[in-house]
Amino acid sequence: MLLNGNGSTEIEPAAALRNDRPAAAPAQAPATSPTGVSEAAGRIPAYLTKHYWWAYVHPKAVWFFERQWLIDAILWGNYHQLRDAALDKLGPTLPGSTLQVASAYGDFTPALAERAAAGQGEVDVIDVLPIQLENLKQKLSADAPVRLATMDSAALNFSDARFDRAVLFFLLHEMPEEWRRRTLAETLRVVRPGGRVVIVEYARPARWNPMRYLFAPILSVLEPFALEVWMHDLREFMPAGAKIANFERRTFFGGLYQLVSFERQ
Ligand SMILES: C[S@@+](CC[C@H](N)C(=O)[O-])C[C@H]1O[C@@H](n2cnc3c(N)ncnc32)[C@H](O)[C@@H]1O
Repeated sequence: MLLNGNGSTEIEPAAALRNDRPAAAPAQAPATSPTGVSEAAGRIPAYLTKHYWWAYVHPKAVWFFERQWLIDAILWGNYHQLRDAALDKLGPTLPGSTLQVASAYGDFTPALAERAAAGQGEVDVIDVLPIQLENLKQKLSADAPVRLATMDSAALNFSDARFDRAVLFFLLHEMPEEWRRRTLAETLRVVRPGGRVVIVEYARPARWNPMRYLFAPILSVLEPFALEVWMHDLREFMPAGAKIANFERRTFFGGLYQLVSFERQ
């Protein structure tokens, strides 16, 4: 890794719970902690501590979920197919700069790093939870061309057009609409014109798919914002007048998952 460390930032629970709106985009470059992870954020969004403490925030959650077979099971056996489809859409090798917006359990980032290394490129991974970046660090080889930074996806601390491409793997369904909109706007801002954005997400399954009826109640309890992503075309969450080209959408597993890709114009 180019940079590493835990970047830990202690958050008072009361302060975290008040953090129920995305902050404005930061005006200056992130500071680097003595351990190497850039620390730009500092506040954990309230939706994470309220709705996803069991999945991402609590140390035992990380211990529990960081198992490849479990993550694959949660995606009904589709993890590898979705991972590889997203990586293939980005490219067989990834020269230049790639941004992964939010960490993910499983081997998504190591596989992304391999393609970047093959293209002599670099990957930046941001996540708002230091514990997730610390976990990711354990999964990367020492020479992986990956930088980690603590940052909120709704206020990316990168300059305009900084990246050649960006990828979001199952992030948007976990956010309230305002965060989702800001995250997409920020992603579009930091990808250069002609650069590609790849998104893997839940989607509303086809009418014939029992998942459409069985999985919706489960999702609505465990993932309270996910059904918004089911019900809407992801373009509806982009800024008005967003300039994108070559929009493509492919579905998997009877429509329960979608891979969306487009280029920034
Ligand atoms: C990208 S999703 C991936 C979910 C999927 N179940 C998986 O692990 O494959 C989960 C990550 O998003 C991060 N996250 C959620 N909201 C965020 C935000 N506003 N900014 C940055 N990272 C965020 C969480 O901390 C967590 O590490």
